[in-house]
Amino acid sequence: MPEPAWWQQRAIYQIYPRSFADSDGDGVGDLAGISARLDHLATLRIGAIWLSPIFTSPMADFGYDVADYCDVDPVFGTLADLDELVKQCHARDIKVVLDWVPNHSADQHPWFKESRSSRENPKRDWYTWRDAPNDWVSVFESCGPAWTYDETTGQYYLHSFMPEQPDLNWENPAVVAAMHDTLRFWLDRGVDGLRLDAIAKIAKDPLLRDQIGAPKRHDEDWESIHGFLRGIRKVIDEYDDRMIVGEVALQDLHRIVSYLESGDQLHMAHNFVFIDQDWGAEAYADCIADFERLAEETAWPAWFLANHDKPRPRSRFDHDGFGAQRQRAILVMLYALRGTPFIYQGEELGLPDARIPPERVVDVDGRDPERAPIPWTPGPGHGFTTGEPWLPFVEGSESLNAETQASDPDSTLHLTRRLAQLRDETPALVSGAQKPVDAGPDILAWTREDLLVAVNFSGRTVPLDVEGELVLSSVAGRKALSASLEPSEALIVRLTT
Ligand code: GLC
Repeated sequence: MPEPAWWQQRAIYQIYPRSFADSDGDGVGDLAGISARLDHLATLRIGAIWLSPIFTSPMADFGYDVADYCDVDPVFGTLADLDELVKQCHARDIKVVLDWVPNHSADQHPWFKESRSSRENPKRDWYTWRDAPNDWVSVFESCGPAWTYDETTGQYYLHSFMPEQPDLNWENPAVVAAMHDTLRFWLDRGVDGLRLDAIAKIAKDPLLRDQIGAPKRHDEDWESIHGFLRGIRKVIDEYDDRMIVGEVALQDLHRIVSYLESGDQLHMAHNFVFIDQDWGAEAYADCIADFERLAEETAWPAWFLANHDKPRPRSRFDHDGFGAQRQRAILVMLYALRGTPFIYQGEELGLPDARIPPERVVDVDGRDPERAPIPWTPGPGHGFTTGEPWLPFVEGSESLNAETQASDPDSTLHLTRRLAQLRDETPALVSGAQKPVDAGPDILAWTREDLLVAVNFSGRTVPLDVEGELVLSSVAGRKALSASLEPSEALIVRLTT
């Protein structure tokens, strides 16, 4: 493998800015808050931060409804705050990846305001308008149909998500050109990469045919996607050493790999087949092997088991009470697989989902629990805010907070730091060949050159027959290799040759 790129070496850490750190006491996290917490990120040796959207937004979908692609929402700060954050990150050798939302704007975007003003408006065709809806539905179940009737002009407009998020019409070259310019705006400012939100959605059947009875999806992942991606990549390649990672929310690995393998589309794609598996050694092994078979030579994987849209692994995989141990094992797995680990803020603290009382629910799609603010310290406000936090903290924040964990060498925070350091110091974990190993039922195991990684998916002690030297275990206090793996333990062993 050639010298790995920056986005291949270290983990990429997702920040959900509303919930990371609040510098001004309004209960919502902001850019200055992030800048003030960079020491924490430096101890994690991350390669980059990916910021969920910080653009001007009415916040119907908390930033994923963009009213100005080239400015920062006041709740997060100013463009100057963003420039400062980029500067401070670069000074610490941390890259900055922004979340770009190409499929839809906010209904408050000036483009949509124009578009909806009359059928003759020059921007009418920047969005999709029809006299009658087809049978497409919103990704958000609670939103129902993907069409909303607009009285001003007596037509329906298309929205794959909320009605407040009208879909931009990528069939219109003027839209494509305008969106490319928004990329240049951020790349010119020194941003190192972009996460492309809901990217498969930008390519739809231009004839808008009904979904019912069709053998494939008409409302996403249309063949035109590859041309759109090549256009985006060309813009990215006008600049040195930048990266794009796509939220390719598809359940077909062939399709995901087709967004990557030609070398002139995405650099990486989040693997949604992987995150949507139930917890099980065999299912995970198959998914990893499938990706490698399809793309070992042509594509670099992006592994993730948490983000701002999914229940946190600690809660999601807690069916037998081993959720906390499993989150630790997951960290070992992510850092030791061939590919880039994507870590979602709070995963390094092993946070569970928060319990949200009905009167505090704010998200349209039930995603508040994984968006609870980060507890930095014990005590009121947990160092996150001096005001009232926009969402409640997770239970157990008194002990799960970053400060308390920093003083406990057995904490999940310290495990994550050790993993990051190990990956930094061990080229085999970055660029070493990966081979699956059959280590018995309930165990997912593979080698990276002379290292063996084994993960016990069960809540029982299972036998493990290997000889070598223990490099690291997810179980606090494990000092040496034995003939078994503890419940939900993951370990890395240097094999005796
Ligand atoms: C992506 C984002 C999600 C958002 C949706 C619409 O799936 O991750 O948070 O609601 O796109 O932009």
